[in-house]
Amino acid sequence: MTHGDCFIYAHEHREEIIWMSQNTNQLPTDPRIEGAMLDAIRQKDYVFYPYNKGVFGLREALLADVNAPEEYEALITNGAIEALYALTRALLKPGDGVICTNPSFMPIHHQIRLCGAVPVELPIYAPPYKMTVEQAQEAIDARTKALLLIDPHNPMGSQYDKDEVKGLCDLAEDYRLWFIHDITYIDFAHTHTAAHDIIPERTIDVYSFSKNSAMAGMRIGGLMAPGAIMELVEPYNTNVLSANVIAQRAALASLETKKEWIGRMVGQARRNQAMIKEAVDDIPGLSLPVYPSGSNMFVMDLGDTGIDPDRLQEELLYEHNIFVRSGTYVSEEFGDRFVRISFTVPEEGIKMFVAALPEAVRKLSSSP
Ligand SMILES: Cc1ncc(COP(=O)(O)O)c(C=O)c1O
Repeated sequence: MTHGDCFIYAHEHREEIIWMSQNTNQLPTDPRIEGAMLDAIRQKDYVFYPYNKGVFGLREALLADVNAPEEYEALITNGAIEALYALTRALLKPGDGVICTNPSFMPIHHQIRLCGAVPVELPIYAPPYKMTVEQAQEAIDARTKALLLIDPHNPMGSQYDKDEVKGLCDLAEDYRLWFIHDITYIDFAHTHTAAHDIIPERTIDVYSFSKNSAMAGMRIGGLMAPGAIMELVEPYNTNVLSANVIAQRAALASLETKKEWIGRMVGQARRNQAMIKEAVDDIPGLSLPVYPSGSNMFVMDLGDTGIDPDRLQEELLYEHNIFVRSGTYVSEEFGDRFVRISFTVPEEGIKMFVAALPEAVRKLSSSP
């Protein structure tokens, strides 16, 4: 089977597969979220277009969730990916440069290229496994228009501390750059510094309900920025009839209840990553460059085992029903050195993974 076939196979066998490949979250959140969706269906909310700025209360709840500055507004979108699409279209023109990283969540780089702009990818597959202020400063030139900070990072799991965020914000201020703060994994972070508290007039927060609220299939997210930036984005908002109403009702329920369950959910995610760490430490050649991860994933480096990550992905999927992601998806340059592992799955799945890993590694290390 080829790499592409993995997804068809995994979807066809979803009931049996331990899905650790897309940073989705299968841990329990709160029954009130599902309840809000069922209510929306029973009340036939889906017959109508929602209020075009989103169901009442959702934008306010989102702004409150991230403690956005008072002048910030929110746009509700079909996932963070749609927010990023509108945003890149609005802010970038051909020839502009955007400081970002490699590895990264590459679909954003694709969107940057669609604008004729250039993702200026700073190599981060070496300590400290994140963008440094020095690296960013060196890469800035007259064409640079924005800095994209995925924080915590996909796929590395690295987090940025206060001084690092401050340093990058200072650069954005000095060089008059937009600061795109992709906070998709914010709730998994051990610490988080909001760029919007440092340079509110230049920051755009990109938000997703896919991971923290375990709702990837609902396709709901948003962006938050000051009114002046929202005015720039508005003409590129293709979503003038608003996002899926059932997803919006679930998102609101999630924000209203999150404080009650997020700690439990993140606690399980942290226990899961610790179990994987223990297993990886026992296998010669393998390592976790970033541990603990501030996200719901990390990368597992294959060291000098000589294992091809695409083959490990296939071996785990087809022989053990475990779906991890080859590094080649998140980095052309470094992707042959690692696989990405998402650990927000029930503990049973982690146990299956740690049992299968040594066997898969042994088999692939010895096969030509
Ligand atoms: C950094 C980052 N931004 C955005 C997204 C897309 O999120 P959504 O599912 O809300 O479109 C992802 C998804 O994996 C991501 O990792």
